[in-house]
Amino acid sequence: MFKPTLFVLCLFPIVWLLWRESMGQLGANPIEAMIRELGLWALRLLLLTLCVTPIRQLLQWHALIRVRRMLGLYCFFYAVSHVVSYLWLDQSFDVGDIINDIIKRPFITVGFLSFVLLIPLAITSSNRMIQRLGGKQWRQLHRLVYLIGILSVLHFWWMAESKSRLAEPWLYVVALAILLAMRIPLTRLFLKPPAR
Ligand code: HEM
Repeated sequence: MFKPTLFVLCLFPIVWLLWRESMGQLGANPIEAMIRELGLWALRLLLLTLCVTPIRQLLQWHALIRVRRMLGLYCFFYAVSHVVSYLWLDQSFDVGDIINDIIKRPFITVGFLSFVLLIPLAITSSNRMIQRLGGKQWRQLHRLVYLIGILSVLHFWWMAESKSRLAEPWLYVVALAILLAMRIPLTRLFLKPPAR
């Protein structure tokens, strides 16, 4: 029951966003609000995906692994929606403007890189692809998620810095730093639950 509940919960942000959009409740700049909210949910889901392994190890809750792929794919879904709304609503699919933006605005460059790196992870998320690649290679490829986390937080940070609103990105910097630190073997040694 946990997985289907989480599946529905993860759909809620986009349904709620589209509902508010259709009711004209997204404020003075609905396009910006939409792009931002979708980006924020992509990042939140990325961090939630990164929470799975440490929580599983700390609580010995092994069944949690079953939702990791779903959370990762939801992160990709929100990232695609974020990027498509930028390309469509903000740039009207004007290729010249888009390329210019990617080259000239560092926060877009970093967001673009992080999005491009997400693609192979989404494509290789199925059991068939895990088998085809082999466990070791699959795990190596999926370590890219750490770099994607850093690039996505940097994307957020850079965007917010230009508008002097750094309080929220700080939260994500700290959360990501903790999640990455928990993967360092020495930290894992301290966090290991006592032997029963
Ligand atoms: C081609 C890739 C991407 C492009 C072109 C892009 C573009 C944008 C744009 C235009 C904004 C809004 C800036 C503003 O309002 O001034 C934004 C904000 C944001 N993006 Fe992206 N983005 C990309 C990838 C990503 C990815 C992969 C993530 C996360 C996994 C992400 C997370 C965010 C976040 C968290 C914000 C800030 C939301 C807020 O202000 O509350 N973006 N992005």
